[in-house]
Amino acid sequence: MFAVTKWIGATAAAELAVAEPAVVEPAAPSVARPTPPAPVGASAALQGVTLEYDGGATVLEDVSLDVAPGEALCLVGPSGGGKSTILNLLAGLVKPTRGRVLFDGQPVTGPGPERAVVFQDAALFPWLTLEKNVAFPLEVAGVAPAERAERVDELLRLVHLSRFRGAFPHELSGGMRQRGAIARALATRPRMILFDEPFAALDGQMRELLQGEVERIVRASRTTMVFVTHAIDEAVRLGDRVVLIGTRPGRVIGEVHVDLPRPRRAAFGGARPELGGASLEDVQAVRIAQRIADEIRVEVDKVAREEADGAWGSSSGSDGGDPRRHLGRGI
Ligand SMILES: Nc1ncnc2c1ncn2[C@@H]1O[C@H](COP(=O)(O)OP(=O)(O)OP(=O)(O)O)[C@@H](O)[C@H]1O
Ligand SMILES: [Mg+2]
Repeated sequence: MFAVTKWIGATAAAELAVAEPAVVEPAAPSVARPTPPAPVGASAALQGVTLEYDGGATVLEDVSLDVAPGEALCLVGPSGGGKSTILNLLAGLVKPTRGRVLFDGQPVTGPGPERAVVFQDAALFPWLTLEKNVAFPLEVAGVAPAERAERVDELLRLVHLSRFRGAFPHELSGGMRQRGAIARALATRPRMILFDEPFAALDGQMRELLQGEVERIVRASRTTMVFVTHAIDEAVRLGDRVVLIGTRPGRVIGEVHVDLPRPRRAAFGGARPELGGASLEDVQAVRIAQRIADEIRVEVDKVAREEADGAWGSSSGSDGGDPRRHLGRGI
């Protein structure tokens, strides 16, 4: 397990107002309420959480996790470890079998607009334009039309999509749809935003662009963030802290604090000949990524061995490659 080093931070999670597919245009509320006050990232915690689904499978066992107000926390770990389940617990979509889930010190009893979720496939409503998608949670929250329009303008500017406000989701690229989903998630000024592998389906260039956007947007909005990813370099770029989730059952196996200046670079291999091909920041980032990769490799091997019924040859002896170039793109 990694030693806890230094705290930086800001993080969070949450849920979007859930739309019934049948909803086309929400009716304007009779009494307009003002937009919520300026956001401040909230704290969140899992305390001794065990989750068993019907049938007895233990998905998470005694998981404790604290997220500080405004922290950017990344979760990484092998497939099936329970990372999405942790997000669902924080969002209030799933209830623990044992233990407690807290948001700002209060038990989470269900989804709420103060916690937003962005999933892998941007779940924009296909029957609404981008502008109306972003406005949707504001309409549900009863924000007055003039204020709503102002907020939508602001959000579309933030994600650089003002020119596409009238486009339907199918007319946008995958990266644009994800930016639209982020804008919609931020509409009600959530105090925590939960990302579940939001860029996994995008190509490398688009991922790097959006990582920069998320870093910028989340910092600007001071929202707490919990970000699940398979890509270790993504976790090291975005996280104030990276928590490693083991599997079978899901549990916390370690954490690493990422004490690197921001904004961080997309790939840590930028050429700086005077520093032997990498900047100081790169070298530190590479070391952090390598530690995470080493720890996770043990878990991945464990899963592979179990699945191969003992016939699995470990990959951990490994050349490892040059960590300046290879940071563990995925798990
Ligand atoms: N509704 C459910 N009912 C029963 N089992 C479930 C349910 N949801 C998830 N699981 C199980 O819980 C375990 C953890 O799933 P989860 O989706 O949280 O993992 P993950 O770490 O997000 O994986 P991945 O990296 O592949 O997305 C898996 O074994 C999965 O089969
Ligand atoms: Mg998942």
